[in-house]
Amino acid sequence: MNENIDKIRNFCIIAHIDHGKSTLADRFLEITKTIAKDKLQEQFLDKMSLERERGITIKLHPCRMDFQLNSTSYVLNLVDTPGHVDFSYEVSRSLNACEGAVLLCDATQGIQAQTLANYHLAKQEGLVIIPVVNKVDLPNAQPEKTGMELAQLVGAKEEDVIYISAKSGLNVQKVLETIVAKVPAPKGDPDKTLRALVFDSLFDQHRGVIAYVRVFDGKIKKGEEIKLLGTGKVSTVLEVGVFHPDFFPVEGLSAGEAGYIVTGFKGIRDCRVGDTIAKNPKNKTINSSADIVEPLKGYKEPQPMVFASFYCTDASEYSKFKEALEKLSLNDAAFTFKSEVFSDLGFGFRCGFLGMLHMEIIKERLEREYNLNLIITAPSVSYKVILKNNETRFIHSPQEFPDPNQITSIEEPWVRLDIFSPARYLSPIMNLVKTFRGTYNKTEYLADDVILYYEMPLASFLDNFYNSLKNISAGYASLSYLFLDYRAGDLVKMDILIAGKKADALSIIVPKNEIQTEGKRLTVELKKVIPRQMFEIAIQAVVGSQIISRETVPAMKKLLGNFGKTGGDRTRKMKLWKKQKAGKEKLKRLGTVDVPQEAFFAILKNK
Ligand code: GTP
Repeated sequence: MNENIDKIRNFCIIAHIDHGKSTLADRFLEITKTIAKDKLQEQFLDKMSLERERGITIKLHPCRMDFQLNSTSYVLNLVDTPGHVDFSYEVSRSLNACEGAVLLCDATQGIQAQTLANYHLAKQEGLVIIPVVNKVDLPNAQPEKTGMELAQLVGAKEEDVIYISAKSGLNVQKVLETIVAKVPAPKGDPDKTLRALVFDSLFDQHRGVIAYVRVFDGKIKKGEEIKLLGTGKVSTVLEVGVFHPDFFPVEGLSAGEAGYIVTGFKGIRDCRVGDTIAKNPKNKTINSSADIVEPLKGYKEPQPMVFASFYCTDASEYSKFKEALEKLSLNDAAFTFKSEVFSDLGFGFRCGFLGMLHMEIIKERLEREYNLNLIITAPSVSYKVILKNNETRFIHSPQEFPDPNQITSIEEPWVRLDIFSPARYLSPIMNLVKTFRGTYNKTEYLADDVILYYEMPLASFLDNFYNSLKNISAGYASLSYLFLDYRAGDLVKMDILIAGKKADALSIIVPKNEIQTEGKRLTVELKKVIPRQMFEIAIQAVVGSQIISRETVPAMKKLLGNFGKTGGDRTRKMKLWKKQKAGKEKLKRLGTVDVPQEAFFAILKNK
C-alpha cells in the first residue's frame, strides 16, 4: 500500500490510431526497467494476439512503473487507451482514472480526428496535457508543422512540445521527466470512506471478475466486503494488487493508487466499467450518514449501437456457436446477443456492438478462435418506434418492425460527426455528407486543415460513410463520432423478394424519399452478386405490396448445354463442380436460391 500520495502520477497516452501509443509504452517499460529489454515483445501492453496482428489497441492494459528522478522514487501508473472511436467510452473512463495525458501525434500524419476528439475529452476532464510529436526519425516526418499545430491546439508554447521517436527511444526519458514535473499528484484522502472507479474489468475463468480500479478515497484490502454503487451487487474481495505489468498481489490499495481487485463476482455485468466500488455499509457497526457514499461521476452502461445477425453456414454447429458467444460476452459487457430465427437462415443470433470495429473483432474472434464459418447480415441500428397505443418499442432488426398501420412515429439515432481533413478536400466532403443525410454545423480552420462539424443519422453513417470519406480524400480525412439522440424520421421498411419469396434477412429500413433510388441500387447490387442458377431469378424490392424495382438473373443454360452437347469434357466438368462446391461453403439458401455472403452486404453503399 502506497500512502505517499505525493509521489504518485496517474497518466495516459492519447492519440489517433497508429500514432505510436503502444510503442511509446514499450519504451517507458524499458526505461523504468519494469520489463527487461530482452523480455520485451513489441507492443507489450497489447495483450490480445488479434490486437498485435491488427496493430490496434482494443482493451486497456494499465501498468505501474517505478521511476527514479533526482534520487526520488516516483510511482507512475500508465493507462493505455484504445485509439478507435468505437471504444470512446473506455477512453473517457481511463481519462477519469488519471490527472495527466500525453497527447501523442505522428509527425508524418499530423493532427487527426481522434487526436482532436481525445484531446477534447481530456480537456473536459481537466487533465494536464503534455503535447508530444512522435516518429521524428522518419524521412517524411514534418515535426515543425505538427509541433506548431499541436501547440496551437492545446494552447501551449511551441518550446513545450517534446519531439520524440518512440521507436529509437529519442527523448522518451524527457517525456517521463515532464510527467513527473507537470502532472499533479492525485488528490484523495486515505482516511475517508472507500471510493474506487472501475475503469476496466476482465473475466478470468478461475477467479471470476477482476476489476481494474483507481482508488479515489479510502483504502481497500483482501477479505473486505464491497458494494458496487451502480449495480448494487455485494461481494468479498479475494485479492488486491497492482499491474507490474502482470498481476502482482499487494496488501492493499490506498487513495490515489491504481490497481486491480479480484472481486469474487461471477459475471462481468455485475461489475461494469464506470461503476464505483465502495465498502458494503453492513460491515460497519454504526449506521451513520458517513455510510452514504456518493458514486463517482459519469457512469453509464455501454449501449450497443450497431446490430447484425450472425448465422452459421453449418446448422449443426449451432450449440458450439452459442457457447462461443456466451464465452465472448463473459469478457465484454458491451456485446449483446439474443437468439433469432429466420425462415431461410435457420437459427442464429441478433448481436449488438458498440460500432463497426467492435463487430469485426467479434466476427474475427468467432471465426478464428472457435473455427466457425459465419454468414453475417448488414449492420443496422436500433429504432425507437412509437405505436398508436402509446407503447414505445426499441427495434433492433428490420424484421421486428410492427405493421405500419400501428405506428405513430419512428425515431432513429443521430451522431455528431467531427471530420478532420486537409482544406483542399472541403468541397467534396461537403457534397458527400449531403448524400448521406448529414446536416452541417460549422467549420474551423487550423493552419492548412479544417475541422468540419456535422450531424448525421447513424444508419447513414454505417452505410460505408467512412470508406467513402477515405476514398474522396485520398485517405487523408479522418473522423470521430459520438451518439447524440433519437430523432424523428420518415422511414419505411423495404423487403427483398428473391424468386418471388421474401428474404427476411435482406429487409432494410429506408427514408421514404429514397425508396426509388435505394430499391434500384439494391436490386442492381444483388444481381451482381447472386450467382446464376439453373433457372431465372427475379430480384424485387418492395414496400408493402408496391414493387419498387426489379432485376433478373438469367439462368445458366448455355454452360451446361455445352457440356451436354460435347458429351462432357470430364476434367472441365470436375473443375467446375469443385469450384461450385468450394463456393457453397459460404452460401446460404434463401428460398430456392443459394446466395453468397456478399448478398447480405449489398445494401451498403459503395461496396
Ligand atoms: P493503436 O493502438 O492501434 O491506436 O496504435 P498505437 O498508437 O498503439 O500505435 P503503435 O505503437 O502500434 O505504432 C504504430 C506503428 O508505428 C507501428 O508499426 C510502430 O512500429 C510504428 N512506430 C511507432 N512509433 C514510431 C517511431 O517513433 N518511429 C517509427 N519509425 N515508427 C514508429
